[in-house]
Amino acid sequence: MSNTSIASGQDAEILTHVDAGVMTLTINRLDKKNSITAAMYAAMADALESAHHDAAVRAVVIQGHETIFSAGNDIGDFLNKPPSTPDSPVFRFLRGISSFTKPVVAAVCGPAVGIGTTMLLHCDLVYAGDNAAFSMPFVNLGLCPEAASSLLVPQLMGYARAAEALLLGEPFTAETALEMGLINRIVPPAEVNALAQQQARKLAAKPMSSLIETKRLMKKGNASVVAERMAEEGASFGRMLAEPAAREAFTAFMEKRKPDFSAV
Ligand code: COA
Repeated sequence: MSNTSIASGQDAEILTHVDAGVMTLTINRLDKKNSITAAMYAAMADALESAHHDAAVRAVVIQGHETIFSAGNDIGDFLNKPPSTPDSPVFRFLRGISSFTKPVVAAVCGPAVGIGTTMLLHCDLVYAGDNAAFSMPFVNLGLCPEAASSLLVPQLMGYARAAEALLLGEPFTAETALEMGLINRIVPPAEVNALAQQQARKLAAKPMSSLIETKRLMKKGNASVVAERMAEEGASFGRMLAEPAAREAFTAFMEKRKPDFSAV
């Protein structure tokens, strides 16, 4: 296939590029640490939808920047236009990636906060830079887990380590992520995107029907419970966004001060 870009301009906050059977989504909002707005979730959800229908797309890569994968949800958006219905872009993206039938490869360098980590639970292969730092600080923000991470993180790491990651919100390194099976390999940051691309192209050259069926069978045991949990988390998350603990956490972040949870 020729080099096709179905992206808008190079300044788009989600760059979408298709080449050699691989759709690459690049989170491109470096000045805000690749935090993700509703518009960016919508762009990613739309891209996955189009990748699903486009026979020319045989694998997807999600990547950020060599210094940061994503600072998670845009906190200003959480304050001003919180996702309030199941059709909100963030939930549309999460349903899209968790039920995506073709292989998804992620390339992660630097911080991967919140959904920056939880979206990886739905990727098939994850390559990380040795500077990667994973964290799910939902409790620190007065929220609860999303992306079925309340189910998948304990399944992956065991309850004890999940409690450190989800209750304390403690970050963990690429080495820990590798040992726990969240990621496949650690390489120098400058090599991560190329490795993800190489692996995605390997996948794209394989028989699509076998890939799709194998992925479906591997995920089958968890598929309906993941969808159910994601919906339940989404309802709680949506409610908690409007509650005092989250309002205090977001306001504190915007005002660059420590949150005061003594009243919540
Ligand atoms: N939403 C909105 N803006 C964000 C953001 C987010 N999640 N994360 C970072 N930014 C913005 C900062 O407000 C700052 O903007 P400014 O230059 O206009 O002041 C800019 O990005 C740079 O962020 P800064 O915190 O100075 O960068 P850093 O290199 O010191 O730290 C992080 C990087 C990712 C560790 C830190 O930004 C962070 O912890 N972000 C919040 C993560 C979070 O809680 N996400 C929500 C998860 S659900």
